[in-house]
Amino acid sequence: MFQQKHLLDLESLSAEEITEILDTADSFRQVLERPIPKVPVLRAKTIANLFFEPSTRTRISFELAEKRLSADVVNFSASGSSVQKGETLRDTADNILAMKVDMIVMRHPDSGAARYLAQRVSASVINAGDGMHAHPTQALLDLLTLRQRLGDLQGRKVTIVGDIAHSRVARSNIWGLTKLGAEVTVCGPAPMIPADIETLGCQVEFDFGSAIGDADAVNVLRIQLERQKHQIFPGNREYARAFRLDREMLRRTPEHCIIMHPGPMNRDVEISTEVADGPRQVILDQVTNGVAVRMAVLYLVSGGVRETLGENLE
Ligand code: CP
Repeated sequence: MFQQKHLLDLESLSAEEITEILDTADSFRQVLERPIPKVPVLRAKTIANLFFEPSTRTRISFELAEKRLSADVVNFSASGSSVQKGETLRDTADNILAMKVDMIVMRHPDSGAARYLAQRVSASVINAGDGMHAHPTQALLDLLTLRQRLGDLQGRKVTIVGDIAHSRVARSNIWGLTKLGAEVTVCGPAPMIPADIETLGCQVEFDFGSAIGDADAVNVLRIQLERQKHQIFPGNREYARAFRLDREMLRRTPEHCIIMHPGPMNRDVEISTEVADGPRQVILDQVTNGVAVRMAVLYLVSGGVRETLGENLE
């Protein structure tokens, strides 16, 4: 039974806990297909979404998930708030909690911010992305999408290509995929691959064609120019020449191989428009799954029990 009070990363979860979230998300996907896609399981709970960094998918997805579960929702953006007057994260959170909030969903530019908050407040904290550290719900929605398309992930081969060094999505995917038995290869220019990444249980391949030759799925990451303190690669054109997934590179993958991207995409930098909109991509499925995964996380972290979920979904 799921007993975590917070969701900070996937490193801290067992394979059984990850599977429990994915199974619960499957039930919520069915709710989302109903004419009235709303259930009363979080009625009387209040959730604050604290976003200190830009977001489109994660922010809207969490808000929709909360409303589909009948929670009361308050939204906070750093811009236009007292953060701009110098208020600390701890004080901002304490003031919001003084208004009787049960759960906090937070995106923050600093790695470790979610854990810092979880250690200091009484509410449950769900990490919606912290710096370069973790983005657990993104990895969970990726796992759900992979499981729907490929079935059991044991022994499946997943290649993650791009700026691994700056990517919380890569780290979270590696933790989740390896726990579920998948084989993970990371690929990208040498300056974008951390020296110790293999200690997380993945392989490194610098040649793009070799990295995708036997992949069941390729997860293409965004080049994150905003996180690079110093330019570590000559430019977008050089990156695209070696690592863009275009029609020619797609031919190097097995026919069943699916193409994923967490968004937002830099079209024609890391992925060509033709591939991004082509028949093998599952990118918008990932987004739809994001709502179901976040409903599952909110339900379980708030003390919901998977075994009795069916009664609450009537
Ligand atoms: N994938 C993802 O986290 O997208 P947003 O930054 O738009 O939330």
